[in-house]
Amino acid sequence: MKRTLGTCYYPEHWPEEMWEEDARRMAEAGLTWLRIGEFSWSKLEPTPGDLQWGWLDRAFKVLGAAGLKVVLGTPTATPPRWMIDKHPDMLAVDAKGHPRKFGSRRHYCFSHTGYREESRRITRLMAQRYGRDPYLGAWQTDNEYGCHDTVVSYSDMARSGFRDWLAQRYQSIDALNRAWGNIFWSMEYRNFHDIDLPNLTVTEPNPAHVQDFRRYSSDMVVIFNRAQVDEIKMHSDAPISHNYMGRVTEFDHFKVGNDLEIATWDSYPLGFLEDRVGATPDHQCAYARQGDPDFQAFHHDLYRAIGRGRWWVMEQQPGPVNWAPYNPAPLPGMVRLWTWEAFAHGAEAVCYFRWRQAPFGQEQLHAGLLRPDSQDAPGLAEARQVAEELADAQTVQPLQAPVALIFDYEADWAWATQPHGSGLSYFSLVFDHYRALRRVGLSVDIVPPGTRDFSGYAVILAPGLIHVDPDLAIALSKATADVVYGPRTAARDEYFNIPTQLPPAIPDLNLTISRIESLRPDMPVALNGGGHVLHYIEEVEGDAEILLSTVSGAPVVLVRGSQIYCGGWLDDVGLDRLIALLAERTGLSTIALTEGVRCRKTATEEFWFNYTIATVDTPHGPLPPAGVLRRAL
Ligand code: GAL
Repeated sequence: MKRTLGTCYYPEHWPEEMWEEDARRMAEAGLTWLRIGEFSWSKLEPTPGDLQWGWLDRAFKVLGAAGLKVVLGTPTATPPRWMIDKHPDMLAVDAKGHPRKFGSRRHYCFSHTGYREESRRITRLMAQRYGRDPYLGAWQTDNEYGCHDTVVSYSDMARSGFRDWLAQRYQSIDALNRAWGNIFWSMEYRNFHDIDLPNLTVTEPNPAHVQDFRRYSSDMVVIFNRAQVDEIKMHSDAPISHNYMGRVTEFDHFKVGNDLEIATWDSYPLGFLEDRVGATPDHQCAYARQGDPDFQAFHHDLYRAIGRGRWWVMEQQPGPVNWAPYNPAPLPGMVRLWTWEAFAHGAEAVCYFRWRQAPFGQEQLHAGLLRPDSQDAPGLAEARQVAEELADAQTVQPLQAPVALIFDYEADWAWATQPHGSGLSYFSLVFDHYRALRRVGLSVDIVPPGTRDFSGYAVILAPGLIHVDPDLAIALSKATADVVYGPRTAARDEYFNIPTQLPPAIPDLNLTISRIESLRPDMPVALNGGGHVLHYIEEVEGDAEILLSTVSGAPVVLVRGSQIYCGGWLDDVGLDRLIALLAERTGLSTIALTEGVRCRKTATEEFWFNYTIATVDTPHGPLPPAGVLRRAL
C-alpha cells in the first residue's frame, strides 16, 4: 500500500486567482490529497434551491489539473442560516432544554427528519454532479459527528423518535416496565407516549432509561450518515469516509463505520493533551510540545478497527491550534513524527489541517501549512520532508498485534450514566491498559465487542466491558489466549440490571463480586508486592488462584485456566505487574522502554518514536528529541 499526504483546503475562502498557485505549491510540496467542501453550503446554495456549482466546478478543474485528488465533503455540518427559517425546530436542544443557536457549526438535531431530508438532498445533488469526476478520489460525509457534544439532543423530534424506537424494541409497555425496573419509585408507564426524555428530572433518572436514550441517539447518527451514503452510492464508486474525532464516544463508531469504506480521524496531539487526555499537570507540562505518547496511537488503532483496516488521518495539527486551554507550538520535528507514527499504525494517508491560516472567522489563531500572508509556516517543511522520505519508503504490510483490547461504546455510556465514583470513565480505564501495554513495546489491536474470532492473539483484554453479549462470552471462553476481565466486566445485563446470579457473568470463572466500592482519590489500596488499586475495588469471592492481592490479603487478580479477573482499577505499577504476569504466562516478548519512547512493528518495518525532549538510547542507536527511527525487518 502506497502512503500519501494531503491537506484541507477551502477554495471558497480565497480569491479564485490564488487557487492555481496554491495547487502548484501543494503538489510541489509532495501533497496528493485535498479535502474540500465540507463547510461550503451557503456558497453552494445561497438561497433555497439556487444551486451555484460554478465555483466548485472551477476548483475541481484547477486542483485536479495540478495533479491533486479531491476528497469531497458533504456540507451538512454547517446548514446555512436560511435552513433555520425553513426548519425552526431543527436545532439541537441541550439537557437544560435550551436550543443551541445558529452562529458556529453542527447546529442540528440528528432526530430531525426534515433536516435529514435536506442533508440527503444536498448530498444527492453533489453526488450527481461530482460522483464521476475524474479528479474525485473519495468522499467525506459531514464533519466530525458528535464534536461539540452534538449527539444527544432533547428536542421534541428526539422525544417522539425515542418513543417509536422504544415501542419497536420492547413491543409492549409491560415488557419495558419490567426491563427498566420501573416499579422502583413508581415509575411505571401505561403507554409509550407517556415516556419523556431523561433530562430535567428532579434527581437522577433511571439508568436503564438513560442507556436506551443513548442507544437511540447513537442510532440517529447511524441513520443520518446512512442516508448520505445511500445517495452517494447511487452516483459514485469513490470510497466514502467520515472524519471522526479524538475521544468522542457518544455514538457507536463501529456501526457508522460499517456503512463506510474508510475511517478517518482528526489528530490534534497538543490540543488533546490540554483538553481531553486527562493527564496530570506534570505530564501536560512534560509533553506540552510533543503531545501524549499514547493518545494518537490509541486512536490510530481504534480507527483502524472502525475502518476494518482502511483508515487515514484526515486532519493533523501542523502548528499551534486555537481551541485548547493553552496552545503551544510543536517541538521542531513533531509534525513529522506524528505523521510517521500514523503510517506505522497503518494509515493510508495523512492530511494536514489546514493549508493556509485563515485571517477571519473563529480559527484565526489556528496554524496552517502557510501563514495568512502565504509564506511557508514551519509545518510545511516537515510535511515536505515526509513526502521526500515516502518516495523511497517501502509499502506497508500490516501485522496482527499479539494483544487484542476490546473497546465498546455502549460500555462508555453505561459508565458515564453510573460511574459510581466521581470522574471515573470507561475510556480512561481502557486507555490506562493501552498505555501499560505500550510502555513495554507491545503493539495492540483494538477490536469491537462484535468480534467472535480471536485467533492469533496471545492476550485479550476486556476491562470495564459492563455488559458482555453471551456470544462474545462464548468466543472468549473458547479463545486460546489469556483473557483478562474486570473491573466491572459483565456486571450488567443488556437492560442495565445486575444479573441475579451476581457478576461477573462469566461462567468459566466461577467467581462472585460480593461487594464493590469506589475510592476517593486520596485513598488508594496498596497491593502486596507493589502498586495500588485506585478509584474502584471489588470484593471477589471464589476459589480461583490468586495472582495479585492487597497488603491485607484480599484477592485482586485471580486466574482459572486462561481466564483472569481483575477486581480493581490498577495504577501504573499494578498494571505493569499484571502485564509482566501475562507476558510470563504467554511468552509475549516485552521491552522496558525509556519513558516517552514508543515503538511499533509492521510486517516489514520497525519504528521507534521519541516523544521526549532529550536524546535517548535505543537498541539501534541514539534517537534525538522528536526523532523517528525506521528499520526494515
Ligand atoms: C477540527 C475540525 C476542523 C477545524 C479543526 C481545528 O475539529 O474538523 O474543521 O475546526 O478542528 O483544529
